[in-house]
Amino acid sequence: MATIIITGANRGLGLEMAKQYAADGWNVIGTAREPEKADALNAIDAVTVLPLDAAEDASIETFAKDLGDQPVDLLINNAGIYGPSEFDRKDWLDLFSINVIGPVRLATALKDNVARSADGKMVVISSQVGSIAENDSGSMIYYRTSKAAVNQAWTCLAKQWQDDGLTLAMLHPGWVQTDMGGEDADLTPQESVEGMRGVIGGLTHDQNGKFYDYSGREIPW
Ligand SMILES: NC(=O)c1ccc[n+]([C@@H]2O[C@H](COP(=O)([O-])OP(=O)(O)OC[C@H]3O[C@@H](n4cnc5c(N)ncnc54)[C@H](OP(=O)(O)O)[C@@H]3O)[C@@H](O)[C@H]2O)c1
Repeated sequence: MATIIITGANRGLGLEMAKQYAADGWNVIGTAREPEKADALNAIDAVTVLPLDAAEDASIETFAKDLGDQPVDLLINNAGIYGPSEFDRKDWLDLFSINVIGPVRLATALKDNVARSADGKMVVISSQVGSIAENDSGSMIYYRTSKAAVNQAWTCLAKQWQDDGLTLAMLHPGWVQTDMGGEDADLTPQESVEGMRGVIGGLTHDQNGKFYDYSGREIPW
């Protein structure tokens, strides 16, 4: 049975991913900052709920240690925040801590686990607004810079680990009806995750380090 780890799986896109991959027969490890309060995630059969705070290195280290040598076929770094609307240095740094440093630290900690899979993949849920080429309106400077930074970080890892048997990709989920996306967003979580699952399922190693949206469109940097 293939194993997937999904961060931030207690609500939003992460929860929908957990539902869909579990229904598809995967062994799902869903993380939450407070597993005991993750009622919707705990309610899904065949999902193991483990604690993980992307902003805390000790939490990432404990998670990796508890996983041991278990092979991981797919790691989805989904947890993320949108951040504040007004300038605050600490808020901006916190956003980078969760959206950039967390995914990189977790990817590094779990690299050997994913490399143990015959077809190991690591995905980070980025955003189209991290694309400099497609930035035609400005705004959202905090969030845009964090997603541009995680794209660069993922590109570095993809190149550094090119020959280590892993495939890395960045995905934009679309504008989705979650707490973050709001109720006016274009897509339901179900539609977005169905699309992303199709893109992830079709990824081959020659796509290592690429940036796609949920429909499979490659997004320019
Ligand atoms: N929705 C959209 O339209 C959209 C568009 C582009 C990209 N994205 C990206 O898609 C991903 C998921 O977004 P979403 O719409 O599902 O957002 P969401 O509904 O706000 O859910 C965010 C998830 O991240 C978790 N999280 C926040 N801080 C964390 C931390 N320090 N450590 C671990 N988990 C943490 C949350 O857990 P708690 O419940 O504990 O806070 C929650 O599970 C994010 O990376 C986001 O940037 C979303």
